[in-house]
Amino acid sequence: MEQKKQEAIVADNRKGIDLSRREMLIGTGALMAGAAISQLGLVTPAQAARTNGAAWPWPYEKVDPARVGETAYHAWYEVFCSQAVTTGLFEQLRQNVGEPWTDFPIESISFGAGGMLGWGLTCGAPVAGALVIGLAVPKEYSNAMIHDLLQFYADTPMPVYSPVNPKFNGEIPRSVAKSPICHQSVGRWMKTADRSFGSDERKHRCASVTASVAYRTAELLNDWKDGKYKPDTAWSGPGTVGLPAQQNCMSCHGNDIPTAPR
Ligand code: HEC
Repeated sequence: MEQKKQEAIVADNRKGIDLSRREMLIGTGALMAGAAISQLGLVTPAQAARTNGAAWPWPYEKVDPARVGETAYHAWYEVFCSQAVTTGLFEQLRQNVGEPWTDFPIESISFGAGGMLGWGLTCGAPVAGALVIGLAVPKEYSNAMIHDLLQFYADTPMPVYSPVNPKFNGEIPRSVAKSPICHQSVGRWMKTADRSFGSDERKHRCASVTASVAYRTAELLNDWKDGKYKPDTAWSGPGTVGLPAQQNCMSCHGNDIPTAPR
């Protein structure tokens, strides 16, 4: 993209509505051509892109968590953690609600596998759970619910979900990830189980963790639908701890927790 155009977009993003309005008053042709008229006045394409559209949050009907879990478990073997969670939840939402769930391309979140394509960042399962929560639940609940999902992932001896038709027959140990980070979660389990990344046990473990997260997401959403959802996670934001961070600083820093410049 040519430099000028890029600068204009950056400036527009920074100054938002004010700049767009000013530019429109000046009457630059391109902006006027792209502008849509709303009841509130002129709306630029950039402004429109920052909103959620009239149909958000999407309609939600309760799903059967056990079926969500089992579907997600088996989907893992084909599409891995993130897309498996959307598969488990969307399967029933498409059936119970239909549009717009039928239109969303769930493959678009397949990048979550291995904590984003094997980078070992946040496990794709809670990322996908958070996506569905974000689609179905208004902001005043969704953020708290996503905190709860991440905390559940980090604190729970995993996996909790036992598939009805497992692909691996045998016992595997559980481990506490202490983190939603894929690298730590998988690494701590591998150390506990003394199994390699390529082992059948590790695959069954990640499929079962994925199912556990899909199941828990369904429970949270159902509770919310029933008016029973209560936020459960105490959370200190970046303003309190000095930078964005998991709250259990010691699990990585030991007793020597650095302080961020204030
Ligand atoms: C998941 C592991 C993890 C957790 C949990 C964590 N940190 Fe860190 N943090 C790191 C790593 C890794 C670095 C980079 C260290 C380096 O480069 O030497 C870092 C760097 C920092 C830095 C930058 C300064 C420095 O010495 O590198 C600060 C400040 C910091 N962490 C504070 C915190 C605080 C406060 C918490 C808890 C609220 C926290 N961290 C939780 C892993 C973690």
